[in-house]
Amino acid sequence: MITLNGLQFQEYISEKELLHAIDEVAVAINRDFKGKQPVFLVVLNGAYKFATELLSRFEGDCEIEFIKMSSYDGTASTGQVQTHIPLEADLEEREVVVIEDIVDSGNTIEKITQMMVTAGVNKYRIASLFFKPGSYTKEYKIHYVGLEIPSDFIVGYGLDYNGLGRNLNAIYKLKTTKMTNLVLFGPPGAGKGTQASFLKEKYNLIHISTGDVFRYNIKNATELGTLAKSYIDKGQLVPDTVTIDMLSAEVDKTPDANGFIFDGFPRTTAQAEALDALLEEKGTQVAAMIALEVDDEILVKRLLERGKTSGRKDDADEAVIRNRIKVYYDETAILKGYYQKQDKYYGVDGVGEINEITTRLSSVIDKL
Ligand code: AP5
Ligand code: MG
Repeated sequence: MITLNGLQFQEYISEKELLHAIDEVAVAINRDFKGKQPVFLVVLNGAYKFATELLSRFEGDCEIEFIKMSSYDGTASTGQVQTHIPLEADLEEREVVVIEDIVDSGNTIEKITQMMVTAGVNKYRIASLFFKPGSYTKEYKIHYVGLEIPSDFIVGYGLDYNGLGRNLNAIYKLKTTKMTNLVLFGPPGAGKGTQASFLKEKYNLIHISTGDVFRYNIKNATELGTLAKSYIDKGQLVPDTVTIDMLSAEVDKTPDANGFIFDGFPRTTAQAEALDALLEEKGTQVAAMIALEVDDEILVKRLLERGKTSGRKDDADEAVIRNRIKVYYDETAILKGYYQKQDKYYGVDGVGEINEITTRLSSVIDKL
């Protein structure tokens, strides 16, 4: 993931794939222009990198000329093609290969084609590293195409977004999907699970409760469950490495999610950093940490009450409940500062009717 002028882009085509595509274009041009002495007309700025690679693969003699044109403003094609450096060379009766970085709507190609006709060339061919068939509105043939791509906005390898990104060796695509990732925070019994079950419906999010995943594994006597059980029964935290790997696997189960509600994760700084890295890889981030604030004695009361029916061993014993709360203050509460520093922390009163609290949480989420 990279950020250019405030927009996020994710890697889309690697340098290796690009060089492979250029190899293939070079093979075709070497075949078609064997023994000829063409003029390569490079369309600046975008085609500089493609031209450098392509021409280093040309096996005969050639001349190289430049023109400079643009049709983009930001990420949108303006439809207006501007010529900044006009054609100066005499191309009459010459064989010309136009080197373009990308053919999009075809407006630039139209202008260049007119230019070739006016210049009285013997023959011209167009070589473009990228071609967007979905956006192309013209009839002119593009003779050599490196890669056909969908109509997304791309940067890198000569292409820019408002001046930046041309130097990148890979192609990056504008990231348009916006995920809403929430960390639902608070001590044991604060109501994280209760509220998550409403919020996931309301906002179409995937709810991941690390405690629930551990309990599922314990119930099914998996290796992970056996390992986690000894910690959970005492009200201690399961080691970070185990928890982080498990969370990562849960996130990977729904790659197209609209966003996640993380309930009970992160609980340590290491987990918070791992979550940041995991989401960054996916081109997204934590939108907010929303904490449910509830007094300790209310928590103990709620959990003892739930312990009568939940079958949760860590709810059955007041000493274990108090240890969970202590572990929260000793090891987890510190994360409030972690998210406050990023301006992502929101505290919400977690005492009251359940639906009232959902409304309080929603008013935070709706403003994100
Ligand atoms: P976990 O399952 O996450 O438990 P917890 O944090 O102790 O929290 P709870 O699930 O008990 O409470 P909750 O806030 O979800 O409240 P709930 O909605 O259920 O973790 C369990 C263990 O797993 C940990 O101790 C640890 O060992 C391990 N673990 C998990 N994640 C880990 C991680 N990231 N790293 C390391 N170890 C990890 O509500 C509680 C009760 O209150 C319910 O009975 C509910 O009905 C009631 N209630 C809810 N809201 C209200 C309200 N407004 N008014 C009255 N009652 C209410
Ligand atoms: Mg819970």
